Formats: sequence, structure tokens, C-alpha cells
Amino acid sequence: MSVSKPNQTAEFRGTLRPITIAELDEVWKLDLRCFVDGEAYERETFRYLLTSPNTIARQIRSTDNQMVAFVVAVIEIDGVGHITAIGVAPEHRRRGLARLLLREMERSLRSRGISTIRLEVRVENEAAILLYEQLGFAVVQRLSRYYSNGSDGYMMVKPL
Ligand SMILES: CC(C)(COP(=O)(O)OP(=O)(O)OC[C@H]1O[C@@H](n2cnc3c(N)ncnc32)[C@H](O)[C@@H]1OP(=O)(O)O)[C@@H](O)C(=O)NCCC(=O)NCCS
Repeated sequence: MSVSKPNQTAEFRGTLRPITIAELDEVWKLDLRCFVDGEAYERETFRYLLTSPNTIARQIRSTDNQMVAFVVAVIEIDGVGHITAIGVAPEHRRRGLARLLLREMERSLRSRGISTIRLEVRVENEAAILLYEQLGFAVVQRLSRYYSNGSDGYMMVKPL
């Protein structure tokens, strides 16, 4: 896999693959680096997610075998694919890794018969909102005090 952008000389080289339970500590630590606002998952939440048959989890690893980006989705009982977490290591941002992971997740969900994808995002998280809008997600609802620090969230949805 390689990712390149016009006007940018740095090209990211690495691999995109599922996250296994053996990689629990790595994904938990990367999540802690990405979510510095108190919204990071507990280690046990990742354990639960990575062992559930309804979870799809993908990562990007650099050529020196570091986990640099991850995404987790849960297939909910209503049949919607719910993106519950996505993060890219700070030093690897703006190289298209989140976009790549989300496109891969969309393919995986579609192959499991899922036709709608949903996520929540903090209203102040402009980077993530722009990313999701670029990929065709639209805000369908404002969620009052959705986050533990009292921030509002947006629910965003995309038909697959
Ligand atoms: C949000 C996040 C996942 C984006 O990851 P990324 O790999 O840097 O994103 P990409 O490089 O794939 O960006 C794709 C598009 O999203 C938008 N975008 C991403 N980061 C942006 C930023 N900081 N400012 C403005 N737009 C941004 C741009 O439209 C970008 O396209 P462009 O670079 O061609 O202009 C990353 O910033 C992150 O891990 N943040 C902390 C965790 C988090 O907030 N997760 C989302 C919770 S809902």
C-alpha cells in the first residue's frame, strides 16, 4: 500500500490489515495518543470489541511495523455499521490514512450486507467533520451533551 497526495512529497508506505486480539495493547495505546480529551476507550473496551463477531477493526502499519492508524466499527442490531473509533498517530496525520481506512471499512461493511453507516463526532472536531463530509457523510442530528465533558455531538450518516 502506498498513499500519496498531490503537492506533497512525503509518501506513506505501509500495510492495511485487520487488528487481532494480540494487538490489544498497541491499539489501546494508539487510541490514548489520539483521544487526549478524556474520550479514549478503556483497555477492556478494546478487548470486548476485538473479540466480538460484530466488530470490524482495521489498522495501518508503517514499514517499521508500528501501528499508525486504526478504525473500529460495530454492526449494530438494527443493521447499521457504527464507526465507534478512528485515530491516526499525530505524526502521520494529513496523509490520507483516515480516508483510506474509512474507504476500506465501507467496503468491508458493504460486503457484510450493510447499507448504512453511522458515527458520532464532537461538534468542535473540525478535522474529523471535514473528513467525514469529504467522504459523503451528512449530519442528521445534534446530540446535546453527548460527551462526558458536556460537549455536544453530531450524528452523521452515509448510505453505502
Ligand atoms: C480526524 C483524524 C482521524 C484524521 O486523520 P488523517 O489521517 O489526518 O485524515 P486524512 O489525512 O485522511 O484527511 C482526509 C481529509 O479530512 C480533512 N481533514 C483531516 N484533518 C484535517 C485537519 N486537521 N484540518 C482540516 N481538514 C482536515 C481534509 O479534508 C482531508 O483531506 P485533504 O488532506 O485532502 O485536505 C485525525 O486527525 C485524528 O486521529 N484525530 C484524533 C482522533 C479523532 O478526533 N478521531 C475522530 C473522532 S470522531
